[in-house]
Amino acid sequence: MPSTLNLKIRGFKKGDLAELSSIERTSFKDPYPSTLILTLSRLSPEYFLVAEVSGKPAGYISALARFGGAAHLVSLAVHPRYRKLGVAKSLVKALIRKLKAGGFAKLTLEVRVSNKPAMALYQSLGFKPSGKLPSYYEDGEDAQVMVLNLSNTSLKT
Ligand SMILES: CC(C)(COP(=O)(O)OP(=O)(O)OC[C@H]1O[C@@H](n2cnc3c(N)ncnc32)[C@H](O)[C@@H]1OP(=O)(O)O)[C@@H](O)C(=O)NCCC(=O)NCCS
Repeated sequence: MPSTLNLKIRGFKKGDLAELSSIERTSFKDPYPSTLILTLSRLSPEYFLVAEVSGKPAGYISALARFGGAAHLVSLAVHPRYRKLGVAKSLVKALIRKLKAGGFAKLTLEVRVSNKPAMALYQSLGFKPSGKLPSYYEDGEDAQVMVLNLSNTSLKT
């Protein structure tokens, strides 16, 4: 990541909602409504993280606890202006640290099979493919399931 990027990973603040909803809309075909983003931040505040660049939200990540020591990555999005700068990697790493500290053993997610940038990001962090879900998305696209074994994951930076 360029040292010039003034990046901070922090918890959610109510004032972030409009900006996160706008990032969500520019990032997904079927964006989550702002009410759902707010619900996610309340359901699991510890695992809802915001990337702030120069004092403004540039992206966010949200995960929820599942049964059996697993957590599920529900959403990750970075504003197009701040992509390819390491923002998503910093968000996922921060989430991994929190989940490990919280005693979670696994982090799972689904990603569109066409979403090569996201798959490359997850693979670079050690996620492994774990089966596909046919026609998982509303438009009929399949999902690739990916799993990260948190007990084997060591983050260098
Ligand atoms: C996927 C997404 C979150 C990546 O965010 P980002 O901040 O640009 O990602 P980073 O800069 O941290 O990239 C980390 C790694 O991901 C991979 N990656 C990211 N963007 C990529 C691209 N456009 N093409 C190929 N690989 C890419 C690379 O491996 C990269 O490491 P490198 O820079 O050392 O090569 C962002 O593109 C996004 O918000 N997309 C729309 C929403 C989305 O698809 N979310 C994921 C849903 S599962």
